[in-house]
Amino acid sequence: MSDQTHDKGGLKATFNEWAQDIAGQMEKTLAELLPSSNTPPTRLHDAMRYATLGGGKRVRPMLAFAAADVSAAPRERVRIVAAAVEMIHAYSLIHDDLPCMDDDVLRRGRPTCHIEFDEATALLAGDALQAMAFQVVSTHSLTEEAANQIELIRLLAEACGSRGMAGGQAIDLASVAQDISLPELEHMHMLKTGALIRVSVMMGALCGRNLTATQRQKLDHYAKCVGLAFQVVDDILDCESNTERLGKTAGKDQGANKPTYVSLLGLNPAKQFADELLQDAHQSLQIFGVAAQRLHELADFIVRRDY
Ligand code: IPE
Ligand code: IPE
Ligand code: MG
Ligand code: MG
Ligand code: MG
Repeated sequence: MSDQTHDKGGLKATFNEWAQDIAGQMEKTLAELLPSSNTPPTRLHDAMRYATLGGGKRVRPMLAFAAADVSAAPRERVRIVAAAVEMIHAYSLIHDDLPCMDDDVLRRGRPTCHIEFDEATALLAGDALQAMAFQVVSTHSLTEEAANQIELIRLLAEACGSRGMAGGQAIDLASVAQDISLPELEHMHMLKTGALIRVSVMMGALCGRNLTATQRQKLDHYAKCVGLAFQVVDDILDCESNTERLGKTAGKDQGANKPTYVSLLGLNPAKQFADELLQDAHQSLQIFGVAAQRLHELADFIVRRDY
C-alpha cells in the first residue's frame, strides 16, 4: 500500500479517520505533558488528568490542526498549541461545573471533577491547568520568529481573560433570569465559547508561514462564525438531546433560567441561525482552496453534530 492510504492525518483520509487520528495524538500528548498521577501533590495531578484525559470531542485541537493546513504549519508545533487550548478548555469546564457556577454533576459521561474529587481540588485543578497551558506554549518552539510566538501567547491570554472566556462566563452568570437582547446574547456567546475557538484556529495557523492580511481576516471570520455556531448548537442540544447522548445533564439551561438562542429565538429559528453561520463560515474559506478541506468539514461537524 502507498503511504497515502496510510496517511491518516493527511487530506486523503476520511474526516472520521482524520478526527480519530487527532484525538489519539491529543490523548498521547496531553498524557505526556501533564504531571503523572504519582507526582506529588498526587490528588491535584489526578484531578487534572481526570478532567483532561479520556473524553471530549477535541474540537478545538481539530480546529488548530485544520487551520495549520492553510499555513503549512509543522504538526509537531500544532500538537503543542492544540494541547494547550485543550488544557484551557478542560479548566473552563471544571470551573463551569462547580456549584457556584452551573452546578453540574455529569461531564463527558462521568462525575464532574468536584464530585469525583472535591470542590477545592477541582478549583485548583482548573487553576493549574490554565497555568500549564501557558507553560507549554512558552517552553516549546512554535514559530520561526520569537515575536510571533509572543503574539501567539498574547492571543491565548486575551482569549481566556476577562475580555474573553472568563468575561463571557461572568456575563453568563449575571444574565440568569434576565431579559437580554439578541446582540447581548451574541456578545456573551462570542466571549464564553467563541474566543477560545477563535484562538484555536489562529494559533494553529500562526505555527506556519505568515498569512496575508486578507487570508488572516478570512480565517478569523470563519473562526468567529464557527465559534458562535458552536454555542448556538450547544444551546439547541441542551434543549433537544438527552443526558446519555450528551454525557452531561440535558435541559440545564431552561432549569437554570439561562438566556440561550433557544429561549430567545425558539428552536427552529435557532437552527436556522446556526445554518446561516455555517454558510458564512464556508464562504469565508473560499480563498484557501483545497487547503481548507478540514476546516470546511469541521464547520459541518460543529453545526450538524448531535452531541
Ligand atoms: C462544552 O464544550 C462547553 C462549551 C463551550 C459549550 P465541548 O462540547 O467542546 O465539550 P467536550 O470537550 O466535547 O466535552
Ligand atoms: C460553557 O457553556 C462555556 C464554557 C465552559 C466556557 P455551557 O455552560 O453552556 O457549557 P456546558 O453546556 O455546561 O458544556
Ligand atoms: Mg455555563
Ligand atoms: Mg455549563
Ligand atoms: Mg451548554
